[in-house]
Amino acid sequence: MEKEEAKKRFYEAFGAEATDLFTAAGRINVIGEHVDYCGGKVFPAALNLRCNIYARKTGGNTIRLAFRGIEGVVELDISRLDDYRDLKIGNYQAGVAYFMQEKGVALVGCELYYDCTVPFGSGLSSSAAIEVATAVALYEYAGVAYDKVEVALLSQKAENLYAGVNCGIMDQFASAMGKKDHAVLLDCSTLEYEYVPLQLGDYCLVVANCNKPHNLVESKYNVRRQEVETALKAVQTVKDVKNLAELTPKDFAEVKYLLSGVVAKRAEHVVMECDRVHKAVDALKAGDLAELGRLLNESHYSLCELYEVTGKELDTLSGLARKEAECLGSRMIGAGFGGCTISIVKKSAVDGFIRRVGAAYAEAIGYKASFYETSIEDGITVSKI
Ligand code: GLA
Repeated sequence: MEKEEAKKRFYEAFGAEATDLFTAAGRINVIGEHVDYCGGKVFPAALNLRCNIYARKTGGNTIRLAFRGIEGVVELDISRLDDYRDLKIGNYQAGVAYFMQEKGVALVGCELYYDCTVPFGSGLSSSAAIEVATAVALYEYAGVAYDKVEVALLSQKAENLYAGVNCGIMDQFASAMGKKDHAVLLDCSTLEYEYVPLQLGDYCLVVANCNKPHNLVESKYNVRRQEVETALKAVQTVKDVKNLAELTPKDFAEVKYLLSGVVAKRAEHVVMECDRVHKAVDALKAGDLAELGRLLNESHYSLCELYEVTGKELDTLSGLARKEAECLGSRMIGAGFGGCTISIVKKSAVDGFIRRVGAAYAEAIGYKASFYETSIEDGITVSKI
């Protein structure tokens, strides 16, 4: 939505002019999937698809929320922020406000209009973008200085303990800390990070949504977390490690006998995916895009066969991409079970790629995929309007 249009909607919802624009990013993840909650390294980047909040400080005790495409206004009473856990819309905002208050921030009433261009349920982290942008708006209006990493951690806490999704730190960190034209190599066990230029020369990343209807992603996600916990406990009987990500492939070969069934498969994915992250970063730094593409493909196969979080739609979409002559690699990103893929495609071939993969996908699955025009941008932005 254009800025002028959003300002008009703000006025319609609240009867006053917006004064500020706070934004936070949706994200892709180049590689390092389902390893953040195992202490691994991830390699996400912030997108031009964002949660935009048009805002006005009102003072008083109420945070008012309005949303693009949704009628009405949701009111959050600052003195009873624990009461909104079951809200379908507004619970992420309430969770962020709740944990800010718990930290001692004196919240100030405001009006927030959400124009979120991150497609919901797409694996591009709309929820993290909403949480991070909300935290920024509330910190700014409270007049309290904030650190972006702290904003990411608080947002993750709101998602874990208020909204009940046991996610890792990757999405919120990328949403807050992303940097234009860079991916963030983040060590999820220490939160140390490094920005790496995401320079793909004649190639670019194409983001495609398989558009599978939402199907209990959160509960399946939480099951995967339990499975890797089980694996870690077993490994810890013989190895002094805090996280599965500390195991090298060689270490894993030594302890594999302790694991069986799906638990062994899940742990193998984690260890091998962590190994691939290092190789992928080296390949990118060396400009070896063919190797990067190969590692993306391997990541997808592992998420399919060992972690079992892909499904027919994502396998079809990435499989069709891989068949294209000008595509170096393709994989699902995010939690999986639906959502998006990324593919490394020659810039000059993108139009044909989208046409052919789009048509073949619709033919195979029965409904269309969506392709997004994306760029890599900064995480948080704050501006006057
Ligand atoms: C979701 C979670 C992240 C991460 C990914 C999988 O996006 O929110 O923390 O675990 O899935 O890599």
